[in-house]
Amino acid sequence: MKIGVIGYGNMGSMIVNNILKLNLLLDDEELIVSNRHLNKFESLIEEYPEENLNITSDNTEVATQCEKILISVETPQFKDVLDEITPFINEKTHIIYTCAGLNFNHIKQFFDGKLSLVIPTLASTVTSNNAISSLSRRKGVTLIKHNKKVELEEKLFIEDIFNEFSYVKRIDDPIYYNEDDVVVPSNDPELEISTIISSCGPAFIAKMIESFAQACDDMTNISKEEAEDMIVKTIVGTSLLKDDQSLSNDEIINKVATKKGITQEGVDLLDKKMNKISKDLIKTLLNRYEEVNNDMNETYLKK
Ligand SMILES: NC(=O)c1ccc[n+]([C@@H]2O[C@H](COP(=O)([O-])OP(=O)(O)OC[C@H]3O[C@@H](n4cnc5c(N)ncnc54)[C@H](OP(=O)(O)O)[C@@H]3O)[C@@H](O)[C@H]2O)c1
Repeated sequence: MKIGVIGYGNMGSMIVNNILKLNLLLDDEELIVSNRHLNKFESLIEEYPEENLNITSDNTEVATQCEKILISVETPQFKDVLDEITPFINEKTHIIYTCAGLNFNHIKQFFDGKLSLVIPTLASTVTSNNAISSLSRRKGVTLIKHNKKVELEEKLFIEDIFNEFSYVKRIDDPIYYNEDDVVVPSNDPELEISTIISSCGPAFIAKMIESFAQACDDMTNISKEEAEDMIVKTIVGTSLLKDDQSLSNDEIINKVATKKGITQEGVDLLDKKMNKISKDLIKTLLNRYEEVNNDMNETYLKK
């Protein structure tokens, strides 16, 4: 079986490299990967010269040969890619796409077949071959949502791949009814909030690390690099206290902060400020979702 990938950017390359690094292809399976500019494939070809891997800049090659096609181009480019491949696909084709902000209702007007939305995360990048045998190679959460046309076996095929290097969270379609009991298309709060956490999350965490390290650099004689190194090691260690030992946040705080001690001062300050920042962040991002959704409605649903 041939599996197609269109778009070899941040997400497409992460998924393709994870599949190859972890040897997830069976003997009779082959990857055909397409990208607008072929130069992006240089290191891939160097690293995997012998794999069941074909590269191309022709998306129609992927469409004619593959029943499973993962599209990972920027969201505004999705429609052009779909228009381009539509003449070459059929009712057996399963389109899997990573484009945030684009829902099934948008695509239905142009492709009414098997559709799965996959929201991956940079946090799932497999970094070394050691990860192949490591129990801790699964990192980050991949969100997956299927439309009604996707069969169980097809759902499991996709979910199994992403489960190899991340934790899959399947999201069911929310159903909303208006006063006349007619199903109305709507946004999907569970998907949106989960995307903010799992897929936008690495950027927010990186920003927090950056800002904390910069403040250390500005206000003390510890350099930004040294501070950043200590912060990252502390985050990894703390995450493991929660993940490996199931310590709650309160348990960790109580073990570190003595009453009226230095840590407690910091915890109290963060308590006051972080709640507001977190709510502002969620509000801002949900507003942005709304704007993107309106743009998508304009592009896809206008008569
Ligand atoms: N980045 C994340 O963490 C993340 C997480 C979850 C979901 N997503 C979603 O995943 C999608 C891709 O994100 P990304 O960060 O991977 O974007 P990206 O790095 O910009 O990658 C997009 C890739 O698509 C290629 N491309 C564009 N138009 C094409 C076409 N017509 N035919 C073939 N290839 C084409 C681009 O090629 P060239 O560079 O050669 O032009 C580029 O390599 C977006 O819709 C985004 O919302 C991203």
